[in-house]
Amino acid sequence: MPDNVLYYGDNLKVLREHVADESVDLVYLDPPFNSNADYNVLFSEKGGEKAHAQIQAFEDTWEWDQEASANFADAVQNGGEYVAKCLLSFRALLGASDMLAYLAMMAPRLVELSRVLKPTGSIFLHCDDTASHYLKLLMDAVFRPDNFINEIIWERSQTRSSISRSFRRAHDVILFYSRSDDHKFNMQYRPLSDASMNLYDHEDAGGKYQGVPLLVSGKRNGKTGAVWRGIDPNVRGKAGMHWVTIPANLDEYEKKGLILWPDKKDGTPRLKYYLHQSPGVPLNDIWDDVPLISSSAAESLGYPTQKPEALLERIIRSGSDEGDVVLDPFCGCGTAVAASQRLDRRWLGIDVTHLAVNLIKVRLRDAFGEKVADTYRVVGEPEDLAGAQSLADDDKYQFQYWALGLVGARPHQSQQKKGADKGIDGRLWLTDTAGEVKPVIISVKGGHVTVSQVRDLRGVVEREDAAIGVFICIEEPTSPMRREAADAGFFESKTLAKSKHPRLQILTIEQLLNGGRIDMPPQADLRSFKQAPKAKGKQAHKQEEMFNE
Ligand SMILES: C[S@@+](CC[C@H](N)C(=O)[O-])C[C@H]1O[C@@H](n2cnc3c(N)ncnc32)[C@H](O)[C@@H]1O
Repeated sequence: MPDNVLYYGDNLKVLREHVADESVDLVYLDPPFNSNADYNVLFSEKGGEKAHAQIQAFEDTWEWDQEASANFADAVQNGGEYVAKCLLSFRALLGASDMLAYLAMMAPRLVELSRVLKPTGSIFLHCDDTASHYLKLLMDAVFRPDNFINEIIWERSQTRSSISRSFRRAHDVILFYSRSDDHKFNMQYRPLSDASMNLYDHEDAGGKYQGVPLLVSGKRNGKTGAVWRGIDPNVRGKAGMHWVTIPANLDEYEKKGLILWPDKKDGTPRLKYYLHQSPGVPLNDIWDDVPLISSSAAESLGYPTQKPEALLERIIRSGSDEGDVVLDPFCGCGTAVAASQRLDRRWLGIDVTHLAVNLIKVRLRDAFGEKVADTYRVVGEPEDLAGAQSLADDDKYQFQYWALGLVGARPHQSQQKKGADKGIDGRLWLTDTAGEVKPVIISVKGGHVTVSQVRDLRGVVEREDAAIGVFICIEEPTSPMRREAADAGFFESKTLAKSKHPRLQILTIEQLLNGGRIDMPPQADLRSFKQAPKAKGKQAHKQEEMFNE
Protein backbone atom coordinates (compact mmCIF):
# COMPACT_ATOMS: atom_id res chain seq x y z
CA MET A 1 0.00 0.00 0.00
CA PRO A 2 1.40 3.47 -0.83
CA ASP A 3 2.90 5.39 2.11
CA ASN A 4 1.58 8.74 0.93
CA VAL A 5 -1.96 9.54 2.03
CA LEU A 6 -4.39 12.32 1.25
CA TYR A 7 -7.06 12.48 3.94
CA TYR A 8 -10.39 14.19 3.54
CA GLY A 9 -11.72 15.26 6.93
CA ASP A 10 -11.24 17.34 10.07
CA ASN A 11 -7.56 17.13 10.94
CA LEU A 12 -8.17 16.65 14.68
CA LYS A 13 -10.13 13.48 14.01
CA VAL A 14 -7.75 12.27 11.29
CA LEU A 15 -4.68 12.84 13.46
CA ARG A 16 -6.26 11.02 16.38
CA GLU A 17 -7.51 8.07 14.31
CA HIS A 18 -4.83 7.62 11.66
CA VAL A 19 -1.46 9.08 12.56
CA ALA A 20 0.79 7.10 14.91
CA ASP A 21 2.91 8.54 17.74
CA GLU A 22 6.38 9.74 16.71
CA SER A 23 5.89 8.85 13.03
CA VAL A 24 6.44 12.21 11.31
CA ASP A 25 9.69 14.06 10.56
CA LEU A 26 8.35 17.47 9.61
CA VAL A 27 5.04 19.27 10.04
CA TYR A 28 4.13 22.36 8.05
CA LEU A 29 0.79 23.97 8.84
CA ASP A 30 -0.87 27.02 7.39
CA PRO A 31 -4.16 27.24 9.28
CA PRO A 32 -6.85 29.42 7.77
CA PHE A 33 -7.00 32.89 9.11
CA ASN A 34 -8.41 35.94 7.50
CA SER A 35 -6.04 38.76 8.30
CA ASN A 36 -8.25 41.13 6.33
CA ALA A 37 -10.95 40.81 8.95
CA ASP A 38 -11.38 43.87 11.05
CA TYR A 39 -8.82 43.43 13.84
CA ASN A 40 -11.10 45.02 16.42
CA VAL A 41 -13.98 42.72 15.63
CA LEU A 42 -11.89 39.67 16.46
CA PHE A 43 -11.41 40.91 19.97
CA SER A 44 -14.88 42.14 20.81
CA GLU A 45 -16.59 40.01 23.43
CA LYS A 46 -19.53 37.97 22.24
CA GLY A 47 -22.85 37.39 23.93
CA GLY A 48 -23.30 33.60 23.87
CA GLU A 49 -25.62 32.24 21.21
CA LYS A 50 -26.01 35.51 19.36
CA ALA A 51 -22.37 35.42 18.32
CA HIS A 52 -21.71 35.52 14.58
CA ALA A 53 -18.81 34.51 12.38
CA GLN A 54 -16.10 37.13 12.44
CA ILE A 55 -12.96 35.13 11.85
CA GLN A 56 -13.40 33.81 8.40
CA ALA A 57 -10.90 32.07 6.21
CA PHE A 58 -12.03 30.67 2.92
CA GLU A 59 -14.86 28.35 4.03
CA ASP A 60 -13.95 28.26 7.69
CA THR A 61 -15.39 30.28 10.49
CA TRP A 62 -14.55 30.69 14.12
CA GLU A 63 -16.93 32.28 16.47
CA TRP A 64 -17.33 32.34 20.17
CA ASP A 65 -20.44 30.24 20.66
CA GLN A 66 -21.43 27.21 22.70
CA GLU A 67 -19.34 24.87 20.57
CA ALA A 68 -16.25 27.05 20.98
CA SER A 69 -16.90 27.21 24.69
CA ALA A 70 -17.03 23.37 24.83
CA ASN A 71 -13.79 23.15 22.75
CA PHE A 72 -12.15 25.54 25.15
CA ALA A 73 -13.18 23.51 28.20
CA ASP A 74 -11.96 20.31 26.51
CA ALA A 75 -8.58 21.81 25.58
CA VAL A 76 -8.09 23.12 29.14
CA GLN A 77 -9.04 19.73 30.56
CA ASN A 78 -7.01 17.51 28.24
CA GLY A 79 -4.20 19.61 26.78
CA GLY A 80 -1.82 19.23 29.69
CA GLU A 81 -0.72 21.63 32.43
CA TYR A 82 0.97 24.30 30.30
CA VAL A 83 -1.75 24.40 27.63
CA ALA A 84 -4.37 24.80 30.36
CA LYS A 85 -2.44 27.67 31.98
CA CYS A 86 -1.93 29.31 28.59
CA LEU A 87 -5.61 29.08 27.55
CA LEU A 88 -6.86 30.32 30.91
CA SER A 89 -4.53 33.32 30.64
CA PHE A 90 -5.82 33.98 27.12
CA ARG A 91 -9.36 33.89 28.45
CA ALA A 92 -8.49 36.40 31.18
CA LEU A 93 -6.92 38.68 28.58
CA LEU A 94 -9.21 38.28 25.57
CA GLY A 95 -12.55 37.39 27.15
CA ALA A 96 -15.02 35.21 25.28
CA SER A 97 -13.99 36.51 21.86
CA ASP A 98 -13.64 35.02 18.38
CA MET A 99 -9.87 35.13 18.83
CA LEU A 100 -10.23 32.89 21.87
CA ALA A 101 -12.40 30.50 19.82
CA TYR A 102 -9.63 30.37 17.20
CA LEU A 103 -6.94 29.64 19.80
CA ALA A 104 -9.11 26.95 21.43
CA MET A 105 -9.47 25.35 17.99
CA MET A 106 -5.69 25.41 17.47
CA ALA A 107 -4.66 24.11 20.93
CA PRO A 108 -5.75 20.45 20.65
CA ARG A 109 -4.42 20.24 17.08
CA LEU A 110 -0.98 21.44 18.17
CA VAL A 111 -1.03 18.90 21.01
CA GLU A 112 -1.74 16.12 18.48
CA LEU A 113 1.00 17.41 16.15
CA SER A 114 3.49 17.26 19.02
CA ARG A 115 2.43 13.66 19.67
CA VAL A 116 2.98 12.52 16.07
CA LEU A 117 6.39 14.20 15.63
CA LYS A 118 9.53 12.08 16.00
CA PRO A 119 12.02 13.32 18.64
CA THR A 120 14.23 14.48 15.75
CA GLY A 121 11.28 16.23 14.07
CA SER A 122 10.34 19.87 13.66
CA ILE A 123 7.23 21.95 13.04
CA PHE A 124 6.75 25.12 10.99
CA LEU A 125 3.58 27.08 11.81
CA HIS A 126 2.69 29.65 9.16
CA CYS A 127 0.58 32.58 10.36
CA ASP A 128 0.36 36.34 10.15
CA ASP A 129 0.72 39.21 12.57
CA THR A 130 -2.93 39.11 13.63
CA ALA A 131 -2.41 36.01 15.75
CA SER A 132 1.32 35.14 15.64
CA HIS A 133 1.98 36.50 19.14
CA TYR A 134 -0.76 34.34 20.69
CA LEU A 135 0.24 31.31 18.63
CA LYS A 136 3.85 31.67 19.80
CA LEU A 137 2.73 31.48 23.42
CA LEU A 138 0.59 28.47 22.59
CA MET A 139 3.53 26.81 20.79
CA ASP A 140 5.69 27.52 23.87
CA ALA A 141 3.06 25.79 25.98
CA VAL A 142 2.86 22.74 23.73
CA PHE A 143 6.49 22.35 22.56
CA ARG A 144 8.20 24.23 25.48
CA PRO A 145 10.23 27.42 25.06
CA ASP A 146 13.54 25.48 24.89
CA ASN A 147 12.43 24.02 21.58
CA PHE A 148 11.75 27.36 19.93
CA ILE A 149 14.23 27.61 17.03
CA ASN A 150 13.31 30.58 14.83
CA GLU A 151 10.68 33.14 14.03
CA ILE A 152 11.02 33.37 10.26
CA ILE A 153 9.79 36.52 8.57
CA TRP A 154 8.65 35.81 5.05
CA GLU A 155 8.35 39.02 3.03
CA ARG A 156 5.50 37.89 0.82
CA SER A 157 4.77 41.15 -0.91
CA GLN A 158 7.18 43.58 -2.46
CA THR A 159 4.72 46.06 -3.87
CA ARG A 160 5.59 49.66 -3.18
CA SER A 161 2.11 51.13 -2.74
CA SER A 162 1.69 53.20 0.40
CA ILE A 163 -1.27 53.42 2.72
CA SER A 164 -2.16 56.17 5.12
CA ARG A 165 -1.51 56.16 8.87
CA SER A 166 0.44 52.87 8.99
CA PHE A 167 3.24 50.95 7.30
CA ARG A 168 2.21 48.51 4.60
CA ARG A 169 1.85 44.95 5.89
CA ALA A 170 4.19 42.83 3.81
CA HIS A 171 5.18 39.77 5.82
CA ASP A 172 3.96 36.48 7.22
CA VAL A 173 5.45 34.78 10.26
CA ILE A 174 6.63 31.16 10.30
CA LEU A 175 7.23 29.80 13.81
CA PHE A 176 9.83 27.03 13.78
CA TYR A 177 9.94 24.68 16.79
CA SER A 178 11.62 21.32 17.29
CA ARG A 179 10.30 18.33 19.18
CA SER A 180 13.53 18.00 21.20
CA ASP A 181 17.06 19.44 21.18
CA ASP A 182 18.09 16.60 18.85
CA HIS A 183 16.28 17.90 15.77
CA LYS A 184 17.37 17.39 12.18
CA PHE A 185 18.50 20.56 10.40
CA ASN A 186 20.00 21.11 6.94
CA MET A 187 21.27 24.66 6.40
CA GLN A 188 19.84 26.35 3.31
CA TYR A 189 21.67 28.89 1.18
CA ARG A 190 20.81 31.72 -1.14
CA PRO A 191 22.94 32.54 -4.20
CA LEU A 192 26.02 34.77 -3.75
CA SER A 193 25.57 38.49 -4.40
CA ASP A 194 27.26 40.06 -7.44
CA ALA A 195 29.85 41.68 -5.12
CA SER A 196 30.75 38.28 -3.62
CA MET A 197 30.94 36.68 -7.07
CA ASN A 198 33.41 39.41 -8.13
CA LEU A 199 35.83 38.22 -5.42
CA TYR A 200 36.42 35.06 -7.49
CA ASP A 201 38.69 36.99 -9.83
CA HIS A 202 41.18 34.25 -10.86
CA GLU A 203 40.60 31.30 -13.10
CA ASP A 204 42.37 28.04 -13.94
CA ALA A 205 41.34 24.65 -15.29
CA GLY A 206 39.28 24.06 -12.11
CA GLY A 207 37.19 27.21 -12.73
CA LYS A 208 36.95 30.61 -11.05
CA TYR A 209 38.63 30.93 -7.65
CA GLN A 210 39.83 33.39 -5.02
CA GLY A 211 42.75 33.06 -2.60
CA VAL A 212 41.76 32.81 1.07
CA PRO A 213 44.42 33.32 3.79
CA LEU A 214 45.74 30.21 5.52
CA LEU A 215 46.96 32.20 8.53
CA VAL A 216 44.57 33.93 10.94
CA SER A 217 45.16 36.03 14.08
CA GLY A 218 45.88 34.54 17.51
CA LYS A 219 48.65 32.34 18.85
CA ARG A 220 48.02 28.60 19.39
CA ASN A 221 50.14 26.06 21.22
CA GLY A 222 48.81 22.98 19.39
CA LYS A 223 49.42 21.71 15.85
CA THR A 224 47.89 24.78 14.20
CA GLY A 225 50.58 26.88 15.91
CA ALA A 226 53.46 24.71 14.58
CA VAL A 227 56.10 25.80 12.05
CA TRP A 228 55.15 24.62 8.53
CA ARG A 229 57.29 24.97 5.38
CA GLY A 230 59.64 27.25 7.37
CA ILE A 231 56.84 29.64 8.42
CA ASP A 232 56.44 30.18 12.17
CA PRO A 233 52.90 31.54 12.74
CA ASN A 234 53.81 32.68 16.27
CA VAL A 235 55.99 35.47 15.00
CA ARG A 236 53.51 36.76 12.44
CA GLY A 237 51.12 39.65 12.97
CA LYS A 238 51.02 41.91 16.01
CA ALA A 239 50.26 39.19 18.56
CA GLY A 240 51.03 36.03 16.62
CA MET A 241 48.88 33.94 14.26
CA HIS A 242 47.89 30.29 13.61
CA TRP A 243 47.09 28.05 10.62
CA VAL A 244 43.42 27.55 9.71
CA THR A 245 43.97 23.78 9.79
CA ILE A 246 46.55 21.22 10.97
CA PRO A 247 49.81 20.76 8.98
CA ALA A 248 48.74 17.32 7.68
CA ASN A 249 45.84 19.00 5.82
CA LEU A 250 48.14 21.76 4.57
CA ASP A 251 50.38 19.03 3.11
CA GLU A 252 47.35 17.58 1.32
CA TYR A 253 46.42 20.98 -0.12
CA GLU A 254 49.93 21.43 -1.36
CA LYS A 255 50.01 18.00 -3.00
CA LYS A 256 46.83 18.97 -4.89
CA GLY A 257 48.36 22.25 -6.03
CA LEU A 258 45.86 24.32 -4.10
CA ILE A 259 48.31 26.59 -2.28
CA LEU A 260 49.20 30.00 -3.68
CA TRP A 261 52.69 30.94 -2.43
CA PRO A 262 53.39 34.66 -1.90
CA ASP A 263 56.16 36.45 -3.83
CA LYS A 264 57.41 38.19 -0.69
CA LYS A 265 59.20 36.19 2.00
CA ASP A 266 56.93 37.49 4.79
CA GLY A 267 53.73 37.19 2.72
CA THR A 268 50.86 34.85 3.64
CA PRO A 269 50.20 31.62 1.75
CA ARG A 270 46.65 31.35 0.49
CA LEU A 271 44.32 28.53 -0.42
CA LYS A 272 42.57 28.38 -3.80
CA TYR A 273 38.84 28.45 -3.04
CA TYR A 274 36.73 27.72 -6.12
CA LEU A 275 33.36 29.31 -6.85
CA HIS A 276 31.79 25.87 -7.34
CA GLN A 277 32.83 24.93 -3.76
CA SER A 278 30.75 27.75 -2.26
CA PRO A 279 27.24 26.62 -1.27
CA GLY A 280 26.06 30.26 -1.30
CA VAL A 281 25.14 32.52 1.60
CA PRO A 282 23.65 30.74 4.64
CA LEU A 283 20.09 31.93 5.15
CA ASN A 284 19.07 33.99 8.12
CA ASP A 285 15.53 34.24 9.49
CA ILE A 286 14.38 36.96 7.09
CA TRP A 287 13.29 35.49 3.77
CA ASP A 288 12.75 38.20 1.20
CA ASP A 289 13.73 36.22 -1.88
CA VAL A 290 10.59 34.08 -2.36
CA PRO A 291 7.83 36.06 -4.07
CA LEU A 292 4.14 35.40 -3.61
CA ILE A 293 2.73 33.61 -6.66
CA SER A 294 0.88 35.89 -9.03
CA SER A 295 -2.40 34.78 -10.55
CA SER A 296 -0.69 34.41 -13.94
CA ALA A 297 2.15 32.23 -12.59
CA ALA A 298 2.36 28.71 -14.02
CA GLU A 299 1.92 27.16 -10.57
CA SER A 300 -1.16 29.25 -9.68
CA LEU A 301 -4.29 27.14 -9.20
CA GLY A 302 -6.51 30.04 -8.27
CA TYR A 303 -6.74 28.80 -4.67
CA PRO A 304 -6.97 31.92 -2.54
CA THR A 305 -4.38 31.00 0.11
CA GLN A 306 -1.99 29.04 -2.09
CA LYS A 307 1.66 29.38 -0.99
CA PRO A 308 4.65 29.24 -3.37
CA GLU A 309 6.28 25.85 -3.88
CA ALA A 310 9.72 27.49 -3.50
CA LEU A 311 8.83 28.44 0.09
CA LEU A 312 7.73 24.91 0.94
CA GLU A 313 10.76 23.36 -0.77
CA ARG A 314 13.04 25.47 1.43
CA ILE A 315 11.21 24.48 4.61
CA ILE A 316 11.09 20.80 3.67
CA ARG A 317 14.76 20.64 2.68
CA SER A 318 15.82 22.33 5.91
CA GLY A 319 14.02 19.93 8.26
CA SER A 320 13.97 16.60 6.43
CA ASP A 321 15.90 14.23 4.17
CA GLU A 322 14.78 12.05 1.26
CA GLY A 323 12.41 9.32 2.41
CA ASP A 324 11.32 11.28 5.52
CA VAL A 325 7.64 11.87 6.29
CA VAL A 326 6.15 15.36 5.86
CA LEU A 327 2.69 16.17 7.24
CA ASP A 328 0.49 19.13 6.31
CA PRO A 329 -2.76 19.02 8.34
CA PHE A 330 -4.28 22.10 6.60
CA CYS A 331 -3.02 21.26 3.12
CA GLY A 332 -5.30 23.45 0.94
CA CYS A 333 -4.42 22.95 -2.71
CA GLY A 334 -1.43 20.85 -1.71
CA THR A 335 1.68 23.00 -1.98
CA ALA A 336 3.50 21.04 0.75
CA VAL A 337 2.27 17.78 -0.79
CA ALA A 338 3.54 18.67 -4.29
CA ALA A 339 6.88 19.92 -2.90
CA SER A 340 7.30 16.72 -0.86
CA GLN A 341 6.58 14.58 -3.90
CA ARG A 342 9.14 16.53 -5.93
CA LEU A 343 11.77 16.22 -3.18
CA ASP A 344 11.22 12.46 -2.71
CA ARG A 345 9.75 12.75 0.76
CA ARG A 346 6.82 10.65 1.89
CA TRP A 347 3.80 12.78 2.76
CA LEU A 348 0.45 12.99 4.56
CA GLY A 349 -1.98 15.76 3.63
CA ILE A 350 -5.29 16.55 5.35
CA ASP A 351 -8.03 18.94 4.30
CA VAL A 352 -11.64 19.33 5.25
CA THR A 353 -12.92 20.29 1.79
CA HIS A 354 -13.44 18.14 -1.29
CA LEU A 355 -12.39 21.15 -3.34
CA ALA A 356 -8.88 20.94 -1.85
CA VAL A 357 -8.69 17.15 -2.22
CA ASN A 358 -9.80 17.43 -5.86
CA LEU A 359 -7.29 20.18 -6.64
CA ILE A 360 -4.45 18.19 -5.07
CA LYS A 361 -5.26 15.07 -7.09
CA VAL A 362 -5.32 17.04 -10.33
CA ARG A 363 -2.25 19.08 -9.33
CA LEU A 364 -0.24 15.91 -8.72
CA ARG A 365 -1.37 14.38 -11.99
CA ASP A 366 -0.52 17.52 -13.96
CA ALA A 367 2.90 17.81 -12.34
CA PHE A 368 3.97 14.16 -12.20
CA GLY A 369 1.78 12.32 -14.74
CA GLU A 370 -1.02 9.74 -14.45
CA LYS A 371 1.23 7.21 -12.71
CA VAL A 372 1.49 9.39 -9.61
CA ALA A 373 -1.94 8.04 -8.61
CA ASP A 374 -0.24 4.73 -7.74
CA THR A 375 2.03 6.45 -5.22
CA TYR A 376 -0.68 7.67 -2.84
CA ARG A 377 -4.10 6.74 -1.54
CA VAL A 378 -7.09 8.87 -0.60
CA VAL A 379 -8.91 8.22 2.66
CA GLY A 380 -12.26 9.64 3.77
CA GLU A 381 -14.02 10.16 0.43
CA PRO A 382 -17.38 8.50 -0.35
CA GLU A 383 -16.80 4.90 -1.39
CA ASP A 384 -20.33 3.88 -2.35
CA LEU A 385 -23.58 5.30 -3.65
CA ALA A 386 -25.01 5.86 -0.16
CA GLY A 387 -21.91 7.88 0.81
CA ALA A 388 -22.16 9.90 -2.39
CA GLN A 389 -25.87 10.58 -1.80
CA SER A 390 -25.27 11.74 1.74
CA LEU A 391 -22.50 14.07 0.55
CA ALA A 392 -24.83 15.46 -2.15
CA ASP A 393 -27.58 16.00 0.45
CA ASP A 394 -25.11 17.68 2.81
CA ASP A 395 -23.42 20.06 0.43
CA LYS A 396 -24.06 20.38 -3.29
CA TYR A 397 -20.70 22.04 -3.98
CA GLN A 398 -18.58 19.56 -2.02
CA PHE A 399 -20.37 16.78 -3.91
CA GLN A 400 -19.52 18.44 -7.23
CA TYR A 401 -15.84 18.84 -6.29
CA TRP A 402 -15.66 15.18 -5.32
CA ALA A 403 -17.51 13.91 -8.42
CA LEU A 404 -15.28 15.94 -10.73
CA GLY A 405 -12.31 14.24 -9.07
CA LEU A 406 -13.68 10.88 -10.24
CA VAL A 407 -13.02 11.91 -13.85
CA GLY A 408 -9.82 13.82 -13.07
CA ALA A 409 -11.32 17.27 -13.70
CA ARG A 410 -10.83 20.32 -11.57
CA PRO A 411 -13.81 22.57 -10.76
CA HIS A 412 -14.45 25.42 -13.12
CA GLN A 413 -13.00 28.64 -11.64
CA SER A 414 -16.42 30.23 -11.07
CA GLN A 415 -17.46 27.06 -9.24
CA GLN A 416 -14.68 27.50 -6.73
CA LYS A 417 -16.25 30.82 -5.87
CA LYS A 418 -19.72 29.33 -5.84
CA GLY A 419 -20.74 31.71 -8.62
CA ALA A 420 -23.01 31.19 -11.59
CA ASP A 421 -21.66 28.25 -13.54
CA LYS A 422 -23.28 28.86 -16.94
CA GLY A 423 -23.85 25.11 -17.06
CA ILE A 424 -20.17 24.26 -16.60
CA ASP A 425 -19.06 22.61 -13.36
CA GLY A 426 -15.66 21.42 -14.52
CA ARG A 427 -13.53 20.83 -17.57
CA LEU A 428 -10.69 18.90 -19.01
CA TRP A 429 -8.55 19.84 -21.99
CA LEU A 430 -8.28 17.31 -24.73
CA THR A 431 -5.40 17.39 -27.20
CA ASP A 432 -6.45 15.79 -30.42
CA THR A 433 -4.05 16.25 -33.30
CA ALA A 434 -0.88 18.30 -32.86
CA GLY A 435 -1.80 21.75 -31.67
CA GLU A 436 -5.55 21.27 -31.34
CA VAL A 437 -6.85 21.64 -27.82
CA LYS A 438 -10.55 21.31 -27.12
CA PRO A 439 -12.51 21.38 -23.88
CA VAL A 440 -14.47 18.49 -22.41
CA ILE A 441 -17.26 20.11 -20.42
CA ILE A 442 -18.63 18.47 -17.30
CA SER A 443 -21.93 19.06 -15.56
CA VAL A 444 -22.64 17.40 -12.18
CA LYS A 445 -26.09 16.85 -10.66
CA GLY A 446 -26.59 15.46 -7.17
CA GLY A 447 -30.40 15.68 -7.09
CA HIS A 448 -33.32 14.87 -9.38
CA VAL A 449 -32.40 14.93 -13.08
CA THR A 450 -34.46 15.84 -16.16
CA VAL A 451 -34.11 15.82 -19.93
CA SER A 452 -33.98 19.62 -20.01
CA GLN A 453 -30.68 19.54 -18.07
CA VAL A 454 -29.15 17.26 -20.72
CA ARG A 455 -30.50 19.60 -23.42
CA ASP A 456 -28.90 22.55 -21.63
CA LEU A 457 -25.55 20.78 -21.55
CA ARG A 458 -25.84 20.05 -25.26
CA GLY A 459 -26.37 23.79 -25.83
CA VAL A 460 -23.27 24.61 -23.74
CA VAL A 461 -21.16 22.07 -25.66
CA GLU A 462 -22.19 23.67 -28.93
CA ARG A 463 -21.69 27.22 -27.63
CA GLU A 464 -18.21 26.43 -26.32
CA ASP A 465 -17.23 24.35 -29.36
CA ALA A 466 -16.35 21.55 -26.95
CA ALA A 467 -15.26 18.07 -28.02
CA ILE A 468 -17.45 16.25 -25.53
CA GLY A 469 -20.01 17.04 -22.83
CA VAL A 470 -20.29 14.79 -19.78
CA PHE A 471 -23.38 14.71 -17.58
CA ILE A 472 -22.62 13.13 -14.16
CA CYS A 473 -25.57 12.24 -11.96
CA ILE A 474 -26.60 10.04 -9.03
CA GLU A 475 -30.09 9.20 -10.35
CA GLU A 476 -30.45 6.71 -13.20
CA PRO A 477 -31.04 8.67 -16.45
CA THR A 478 -34.49 8.39 -18.05
CA SER A 479 -35.08 7.20 -21.65
CA PRO A 480 -35.70 10.76 -22.97
CA MET A 481 -32.37 11.79 -21.38
CA ARG A 482 -30.56 8.94 -23.13
CA ARG A 483 -32.27 9.80 -26.44
CA GLU A 484 -31.25 13.46 -26.14
CA ALA A 485 -27.64 12.39 -25.51
CA ALA A 486 -27.66 9.99 -28.46
CA ASP A 487 -29.07 12.72 -30.75
CA ALA A 488 -25.98 14.86 -30.12
CA GLY A 489 -23.92 12.56 -32.36
CA PHE A 490 -20.21 11.90 -32.19
CA PHE A 491 -16.89 13.65 -31.75
CA GLU A 492 -14.52 12.30 -34.39
CA SER A 493 -10.90 12.27 -33.36
CA LYS A 494 -8.43 13.43 -35.97
CA THR A 495 -5.66 11.24 -34.60
CA LEU A 496 -4.39 8.29 -36.64
CA ALA A 497 -6.92 6.04 -34.92
CA LYS A 498 -9.77 8.30 -36.22
CA SER A 499 -11.86 7.09 -33.29
CA LYS A 500 -15.47 8.16 -32.67
CA HIS A 501 -16.74 9.15 -29.21
CA PRO A 502 -20.29 10.11 -28.16
CA ARG A 503 -20.50 13.90 -28.06
CA LEU A 504 -22.78 13.81 -25.02
CA GLN A 505 -22.18 11.16 -22.37
CA ILE A 506 -24.21 10.42 -19.29
CA LEU A 507 -22.25 8.75 -16.48
CA THR A 508 -23.83 7.78 -13.18
CA ILE A 509 -21.90 7.95 -9.91
CA GLU A 510 -22.38 4.21 -9.60
CA GLN A 511 -20.68 3.64 -12.98
CA LEU A 512 -17.81 5.91 -11.99
CA LEU A 513 -17.38 4.17 -8.63
CA ASN A 514 -17.19 0.89 -10.55
CA GLY A 515 -14.36 2.18 -12.74
CA GLY A 516 -16.40 3.80 -15.57
CA ARG A 517 -14.58 6.60 -17.40
CA ILE A 518 -15.26 9.22 -20.06
CA ASP A 519 -15.15 7.77 -23.58
CA MET A 520 -12.53 9.96 -25.22
CA PRO A 521 -9.33 9.57 -27.27
CA PRO A 522 -6.43 8.32 -25.15
CA GLN A 523 -4.50 11.28 -23.81
CA ALA A 524 -0.74 11.34 -23.46
CA ASP A 525 -0.99 14.64 -21.70
CA LEU A 526 -4.32 15.14 -19.97
CA ARG A 527 -4.42 18.39 -18.06
CA SER A 528 -6.97 20.57 -16.47
CA PHE A 529 -4.98 23.56 -15.26
CA LYS A 530 -3.70 26.65 -16.95
CA GLN A 531 -0.55 24.85 -18.04
CA ALA A 532 -2.49 23.14 -20.80
CA PRO A 533 -0.65 21.43 -23.66
CA LYS A 534 1.21 23.79 -25.93
CA ALA A 535 -0.77 24.97 -28.96
CA LYS A 536 0.35 26.81 -32.07
CA GLY A 537 -0.80 29.84 -34.05
CA LYS A 538 -4.50 30.62 -34.01
CA GLN A 539 -5.14 27.75 -31.70
CA ALA A 540 -2.69 29.16 -29.14
CA HIS A 541 -4.60 32.41 -29.12
CA LYS A 542 -7.86 30.59 -28.61
CA GLN A 543 -6.32 28.59 -25.84
CA GLU A 544 -5.13 31.70 -24.04
CA GLU A 545 -8.64 33.11 -24.23
CA MET A 546 -10.01 29.96 -22.69
CA PHE A 547 -7.62 30.12 -19.77
CA ASN A 548 -8.19 33.77 -19.14
CA GLU A 549 -11.93 33.51 -18.89
C1 LIG B 1 -4.72 28.65 4.46
S1 LIG B 1 -5.30 27.22 3.68
C2 LIG B 1 -3.85 26.30 3.34
C3 LIG B 1 -3.22 26.68 2.04
C4 LIG B 1 -2.05 25.79 1.66
N1 LIG B 1 -0.89 26.08 2.46
C5 LIG B 1 -1.73 25.93 0.18
O1 LIG B 1 -0.62 26.35 -0.18
O2 LIG B 1 -2.63 25.67 -0.62
C6 LIG B 1 -6.04 26.38 4.99
C7 LIG B 1 -6.74 25.09 4.61
O3 LIG B 1 -7.13 24.44 5.82
C8 LIG B 1 -8.33 23.74 5.58
N2 LIG B 1 -8.94 23.47 6.90
C9 LIG B 1 -9.58 24.34 7.72
N3 LIG B 1 -9.96 23.73 8.86
C10 LIG B 1 -9.55 22.44 8.76
C11 LIG B 1 -9.65 21.29 9.60
N4 LIG B 1 -10.24 21.38 10.79
N5 LIG B 1 -9.14 20.13 9.18
C12 LIG B 1 -8.51 20.05 7.96
N6 LIG B 1 -8.39 21.10 7.12
C13 LIG B 1 -8.89 22.27 7.50
C14 LIG B 1 -9.13 24.66 4.66
O4 LIG B 1 -10.06 23.92 3.90
C15 LIG B 1 -8.01 25.26 3.79
O5 LIG B 1 -7.87 24.54 2.60
